[in-house]
Amino acid sequence: QLKAQVEEHLEPLILSDEKLRDISQRFLKEMDKGLGKSTHHRASVKMLPTFVRATPDGTEKGDFLALDLGGTNFRVLRVQVMEHAVKKMDSQICPIPQEIMVGRGTQLFDHIAACMSEFLDSQNLKGETLPLGFTFSFPCEQKEIDKSILIRWTKGFNCSGVEGKDVVKLLKEAIHRRRDFNIGSVAMVNDTVGTMMSCGYPNSHCEIAIIIGTGTNACYMEDMKNVQRVQGEDGQMCINTEWGGFGDDGSLDDFLTEFDREIDRTSINRGVHTFEKMISGMYLGDIVRLVLKKLTEDKLLFKGKVSDALCTAGKFETKFISDIEKPDTKIGIENTRKILTDLKLDFDTVDLHVVHLVCQTISKRSAHLCAAALATIANRIRENRGLERLKSTVGVDGTVYRKHPTFSEELQKKVKTLAPECELTFLISEDGSGKGAALVTAVAERLARQSR
Ligand code: BG6
Ligand code: GLC
Repeated sequence: QLKAQVEEHLEPLILSDEKLRDISQRFLKEMDKGLGKSTHHRASVKMLPTFVRATPDGTEKGDFLALDLGGTNFRVLRVQVMEHAVKKMDSQICPIPQEIMVGRGTQLFDHIAACMSEFLDSQNLKGETLPLGFTFSFPCEQKEIDKSILIRWTKGFNCSGVEGKDVVKLLKEAIHRRRDFNIGSVAMVNDTVGTMMSCGYPNSHCEIAIIIGTGTNACYMEDMKNVQRVQGEDGQMCINTEWGGFGDDGSLDDFLTEFDREIDRTSINRGVHTFEKMISGMYLGDIVRLVLKKLTEDKLLFKGKVSDALCTAGKFETKFISDIEKPDTKIGIENTRKILTDLKLDFDTVDLHVVHLVCQTISKRSAHLCAAALATIANRIRENRGLERLKSTVGVDGTVYRKHPTFSEELQKKVKTLAPECELTFLISEDGSGKGAALVTAVAERLARQSR
């Protein structure tokens, strides 16, 4: 009786293969809209050209600074590119206070410049003018490799005076205000692009990358003839899909649950990044919390007693889901007990299993949604090339993918089902986006030298 009632509540959160195929089809339509010359303005999946066309040829070298902004940690890195190798020499995490994340843009860039200055001091590099690879993990309309206009903030950032502006210019102005160090040429990349560029370098050729962390996104190599917004028909260009925005035009409305609507309503960016809000680490914990709250209100959990923590956003952390879903059931149950006790919930043994089931349902839905979109991209590449079968490597990063015990398995299994003609190998990137940003800068410098 109880089991059936719980399952009834969870039913809308379970996506059958048929539903996932439907989502995959809709995503393909959105990709075409985003790439189209006359349709891209109103596309919710933005399909942004990145101006990254060439991959490293192994001759690039030099020392680079890299910035990595937009994931869990803001980092400054020193990266060395050598012939056929790239190495992180050192790095420093700089916390960004919450008030700066939603404060004035100038404050944010002053903070970034201050962190760079401190890092250069610690490395005795103040006098040098190093080129900079800037991983900026937000949707940007890139004009060139060093000109990148922020379309809108996503995730936890919302600084005033930055949307619609060139982020490279804002950073350079902040550095100029300090007058205590200089930087050389700059290349801007999205974290997906950095991850793709560095993944497996120089051994394997990666042409898709996905991030499943605080936010979620993917990039891939598209044929230039399909990138109608950029002149030229030959070769390929990396496209930052910004798949997080899928559904912003209502195209996923019939898959949204009351919980998804509530997440959106209470977010700092309503109506924006619908797909991301169903998938990424910034939201998963809260989705679980809302489902648990609903089950409690309907007297199916915790003796019908809702605690304050269950009513407070952010109290049920995304990392709890990984702790609860530990493959060793004994550890999982122990973790669940501890978490529910800390949240001041009055639970019994049956409740422990229900909480586990809720976590599993939410993390599986996230993995399956990613799989549907990724299968679409892989199939598209396969069809672009007129291949019957595609073998390819996918670079991956993000805490959800790295830390959740079964997420990667679920994702990979479902991609196989949805795109059986594509044989994808998944490679987790280590410091990928920082190294990748340095590689992109190195390639840009090589190309500039060659054209001189
Ligand atoms: C990091 C990358 O490893 O992963 C970042 O360096 C990226 O560029 C991040 O944004 C994504 O994961 P998360 O979980 O930190 O948002
Ligand atoms: C958000 C950003 C996107 C980024 C992703 C992962 O979706 O808009 O640019 O790649 O998060 O960090």
